[in-house]
Parts: sequence; structure tokens; C-alpha cells
Amino acid sequence: MSKQFAVIGNPIEQSRSPELHHAFAQKTGLDIQYSKRLAPLDGFKDSVERFFAEGGIGMNVTVPFKEQAFAQCAVLTERAKIAGAVNTLWMQDGQLHGDNTDGQGLVNAIHALDWSLENTDILIIGAGGATRGVIYPLVQAGVKKIVIANRTLARAEQLVVDLKAAVPNAELQAIALNDLNGDFDLVINATSASLSGEALVLPENLQFKHAYEMAYGKPSTFLDQAKARHVPTSEGFGMLVGQAIESFSIWNGVKPELKDFL
Ligand code: ATR
Repeated sequence: MSKQFAVIGNPIEQSRSPELHHAFAQKTGLDIQYSKRLAPLDGFKDSVERFFAEGGIGMNVTVPFKEQAFAQCAVLTERAKIAGAVNTLWMQDGQLHGDNTDGQGLVNAIHALDWSLENTDILIIGAGGATRGVIYPLVQAGVKKIVIANRTLARAEQLVVDLKAAVPNAELQAIALNDLNGDFDLVINATSASLSGEALVLPENLQFKHAYEMAYGKPSTFLDQAKARHVPTSEGFGMLVGQAIESFSIWNGVKPELKDFL
């Protein structure tokens, strides 16, 4: 029987994880079956337990269950602890293990674009879970300074307080979105503005050399403004593929090449 994997969420129909993992398996010659599981909002824990009791090997977790997955794991990787959220589950020695591959997925996507992260100054707009998950992997990849700009300044300030100890070698700063200025190697839109069809207006005096939108397949005023300035841009499909490759590699011990799937 093929090895069983799944992605669990609510809703789940939109997930592209099955097609990605089947493509990785085909490329690496593995026999897997990767399905979508819709968990009831109050039934996440039971669904996970049932999946592994039935012999499942690995599970991805998506909205809105990443924090619940974090709470359910007996063993967590360092980056999952720092993210406070888990997107990758597996059983080992009878214990539920959890990792978070989202941040490394972003790093992989940026490297696949041949944009350097070493010694850079980065601006991240947004201070929610998406931002929390990427800071540690970005610093691990060599980023020197991260400014977190948020509409609600207090949330960005709290994130800096929470994460400072985890990234002692990098400079972390919080700023209100309205006060945004400066010159950055890369700006990342980690807000949910594009997902909800809202505009994000960048000040004229903000300078940047590259722009990455975490959402994908949605109209993005953020990307429109970056393109108008003729800087290289990319959107979140690479990050999605990148996180999937990291999960696949944890479970199967082989790592497909990101550029083959863009
Ligand atoms: P996620 O887990 O995807 O990061 P989240 O925790 O809901 O989602 O965070 C959404 C982020 O997008 C927040 O930083 C939010 O700003 P506030 O903290 O001020 O709410 C930001 N955001 C959402 N819509 C926005 C908009 N139209 N303009 C600017 N920021 C926006």
C-alpha cells in the first residue's frame, strides 16, 4: 500500500498540497497517497488522532488549526516553538512531532529567485502569524535587520518583544505602517490585505530593491506599486511549494528541487 499523507484544514477544498506532493513523489519515484481532510472546527484533535491511528505517515496543517496543532504536539522543533504554530505533523516513537516549514519555504523561494538574504535589511509589513513564522528562518538565512511595520503598532511591538531572544544576532524593530520610511533590500507583504481584497498603500519615500507578496493568485495593490517602481517582484506560490518541499523531505528523506515545480 502507498504511504498515506494528508492536509487538514477548514475549509480545505482550495488546498494545492495534494497536487504538489504527488508531483514531488513522481519526480523522486515514491509511491504516496496524499488526500485532503476537512476537520470540523471543534474536531481537529480527533481527526489527527484517527489519521495516525489508521497508519498515516505525515500530515500538513492549514488554517485555522496551526495553533491547535502546536498545542497538541509532544515534541516540537525549535522553529515551530518560535513560530508558535505547526504545519507539519508526524509520529515518532509513539509521540506526535511538529515542525513549521512555512518560514523555510519563504527562504527557499527567495533563494530560488536568486535574491540574496545574506547581510540584508528587510521590511515585513504585517504582524500576524504569517510574520511570526518567517522571522527566525530569515535570520538563520543571514538577514541582518528586520523592521516589522503594522497598522496596529502595538502588535508589531509585541512581536519584537516575543522574538528578540530567539534572534540575538539580528536587529528587530517595530514601526507603525503610517510612519514607514527607509531603504530596504527586500519588502515582504505578510498582511492579509490582498486576501481580503483591500488596498495597501506604500509611502512614496519608502525605497526597496525587491518585493515579495505572500499571497498568490489575488490582485495585489502592493505588487502593483512595486511593479510601477520597476523592482523585481514575486508572489507566494514559491513559498507554498517551498514549505511543501520541506515537509516532504522531513517525511521521506528526499528533497525535490524547488525550481522544478515553479
Ligand atoms: P496571519 O496569521 O495570516 O498573519 P492575522 O494574524 O489575521 O493573519 O494578521 C493579519 C495581518 O494583516 C495583521 O498584521 C493586520 O494588521 P492589524 O494587526 O493592524 O490588524 C494586517 N492587515 C490586514 N488587513 C490590512 C490592511 N488592509 N492594511 C494593512 N494591514 C492589514
